[in-house]
Amino acid sequence: MTDEQLFERAVSVAELAYAPYSHFHVGAAALTRDGEIFEGVNVENAAYPLGVCAERSALVAAVTGGYKPGQLEAIGITASPCGGCRQWLVEFGLDRVTYARADGEVVTKIPAELLPDTFEL
Ligand code: THU
Repeated sequence: MTDEQLFERAVSVAELAYAPYSHFHVGAAALTRDGEIFEGVNVENAAYPLGVCAERSALVAAVTGGYKPGQLEAIGITASPCGGCRQWLVEFGLDRVTYARADGEVVTKIPAELLPDTFEL
């Protein structure tokens, strides 16, 4: 599975998003190091801060499927990850993050580029 194919999976699943407030449908697809794929979408709530982002949904699905940080290789996201999700992407130790920038360009980065100088506990 290439990064481009992973991104296309994210595009496909985005239509399942529950985003009645922002109308901004986001999809994500995470690839495990042994070739499994876990998808996620954003799920909003009338109490706005309670909504969850697509990439976090995908990562939660992967953990529910038995995978832990370090066992995921790459993720595709149809939007530029928000600040909080960047912290999650660092935690999960992904090799590559492929996403569509606001201008539509699809780029691949490492988590440290998206969130430099993270703290260590
Ligand atoms: N959203 C995501 O799902 N992922 C991102 O990285 C960017 C933002 C969602 C959250 C909210 O449901 C909607 O997009 C508008 O912010």
